[in-house]
Amino acid sequence: MRRLLSIVMPVCAALLSCAGQESMETLTDRVFSRAADQLALLDSNLGEGECPRSIDSDGNLVASDIWWWCSGFYPGSLWLVYEYTGDEGIRTLAEKHTSMLDTLQYRTNDHDVGFQLNCSYGNGFRLTGNPEYREILCNGARSLATRFNPVVGCTRSWDHGRTWKFPVIIDNMMNLELLLEAAELSGDDSLREVAESHAMTTMKNHYRPDGSSFHLVDYDPGTGEVRGRQTVQGFADWSAWSRGQAWGLYAYTMMYRYTGKDTYLEQARKVADYLLPRLPEDGVPYWDYDSDLIPEDYRDASAGAVMASALVELSTFVQGEKSAGYLGTAEKIIRTLASDEYLSAPGEECGFLLKHSVGNKPGNVEVDVPLTYADYYFLEALLRYSALVSK
Ligand code: GLY
Repeated sequence: MRRLLSIVMPVCAALLSCAGQESMETLTDRVFSRAADQLALLDSNLGEGECPRSIDSDGNLVASDIWWWCSGFYPGSLWLVYEYTGDEGIRTLAEKHTSMLDTLQYRTNDHDVGFQLNCSYGNGFRLTGNPEYREILCNGARSLATRFNPVVGCTRSWDHGRTWKFPVIIDNMMNLELLLEAAELSGDDSLREVAESHAMTTMKNHYRPDGSSFHLVDYDPGTGEVRGRQTVQGFADWSAWSRGQAWGLYAYTMMYRYTGKDTYLEQARKVADYLLPRLPEDGVPYWDYDSDLIPEDYRDASAGAVMASALVELSTFVQGEKSAGYLGTAEKIIRTLASDEYLSAPGEECGFLLKHSVGNKPGNVEVDVPLTYADYYFLEALLRYSALVSK
């Protein structure tokens, strides 16, 4: 009985709303209704073959081609809205924006084929069972696996840039989901082995003893030795860049979901237990936990959204107070993102759902703007939360 209560109580606590506070059910309905309208508006603002990326300083839509690493998030968001609303018009848009990406299944010159295909085709396959989607996911995973170097034990992130020989960024952990999903779909166990090798090597070389992560580790591809550790998008080489920490939290939780191995769960818990005490009162992180401008610096809604989604899932893998703590923090982040401060007003922001994300502050690119991945992981967090509490 005590064990049962320790599982049920956190969920009940999350369901109870304080007097005057919007229930999570009403909040979720409100956000998905807004998302359906906003994402349809976004489609109407796009030209042929364009993917939404962000908004410029004049308030104009910035689009990309399909090769930009974020091209899968908009179709992914459309699939998530279709999942919640059952709106056939949104499904048609999801199918259109997913099929635009089909050549990416053969992409071997970048690691983010995982993000691109798993969010779009992955959700499409999960919701429709379309066998063509399944084939594309498996082809994409095989393309990604060509970037694996067994001496290093990782898949290479970027082919470009600076003096790196074999750069691996913490973000790359997210691409492992495509490998694990395709391993299950195809029965090709080598894809799972690549993912597990990458996850274990990253745990060893990206993470600091306190549970925070470096952004980029450069390896010698001939020996596997670490050549250097640094940041690209964070405040400093030694700092905790917020989205990078969120990617790691999400990805080690996902690794546990696919493998059931405790080492991944322990890593996810370690990351969560480092991050949660460092969050501001409303739960949405500053763009880097160590920025010297805090508390006057920018928040990163995308890091908050990724964390919220990860924490909802992580709360299901632990019990008692830990579970309640993770779920409670996820709810706090979700409530803040669903407030007027972060949620776009109807018809505003060119059709993006969330404001106030930071893409690359050191590069002065996409600072305090809407970004497609903030929208995607916010919607996923809401779906995960509502699936959990309706059980
Ligand atoms: N490189 C992916 C990101 O900005 O999080």
